[in-house]
Amino acid sequence: MKLENIVPWGRSFAEYQAMFKLTNTDLQQNILGCGDGPAAFNKELTQRGGQIISIDPIYEFSASQIKNRINAVYDEVLSQVENNKTNFVWKNIKSVDELGQIRMQAMNDFLTDYDDGKQQGRYLSGSLPKLDFSDHQFDLALCSHFLFLYSDHFTLEQHIKSVLELCRVAKEVRIYPLVSLDGKGSPHLDLVIDKLNEYNIETQLQPVDYQFQQGATKMLVASTN
Ligand SMILES: C[S@@+](CC[C@H](N)C(=O)[O-])C[C@H]1O[C@@H](n2cnc3c(N)ncnc32)[C@H](O)[C@@H]1O
Repeated sequence: MKLENIVPWGRSFAEYQAMFKLTNTDLQQNILGCGDGPAAFNKELTQRGGQIISIDPIYEFSASQIKNRINAVYDEVLSQVENNKTNFVWKNIKSVDELGQIRMQAMNDFLTDYDDGKQQGRYLSGSLPKLDFSDHQFDLALCSHFLFLYSDHFTLEQHIKSVLELCRVAKEVRIYPLVSLDGKGSPHLDLVIDKLNEYNIETQLQPVDYQFQQGATKMLVASTN
């Protein structure tokens, strides 16, 4: 993976909690964060005594490389949001400036934790659709803003393999959002659900409290218990 092709962008612990409807019981489980990038979820959950491993291809890079890349893309990402403001719901986050502050705070939190987390094995370089974990090593796998969002870049076959792989390594999988970058429902969603059901994996579409991207009101929950 080339760093210049990556747009690092990370969400906060509170956003993860809302996107995945995480209860205190959920937060006490053994969690995999898949495609966590520069999000602050791992840092804050660890501080709260939780158990989490995050995987992402960007973890092959150093903190200073990721930081430089964040600084290089930050203005461009915000100006794209500004130009497409109607694609977002400005309720919890009130303005593009506030969005920038929340994202930068989360990414700085991540950066301050990254070296320690790498040493402790909490940030591992890895990529779907193949994960280097044993069967049901995790209670819960979370995938925020990667699967379904990048439906144009990641094929249906890659989606199916990835979600099956997440179900292999975790007893329960939650994925959010289910819309692609254009705000339309992902064309892969129904076919992925059909495939999971073929494997006797139970699926539910559950409404969540979090909404920022228009139309992103639900998460996919897949359970293999
Ligand atoms: C938009 S960011 C979301 C980051 C974080 N999950 C959040 O919601 O704040 C998408 C992340 O997916 C990661 N990614 C790209 N390809 C991946 C793959 N094949 N498997 C896992 N993660 C991948 C990127 O490196 C990036 O960090």
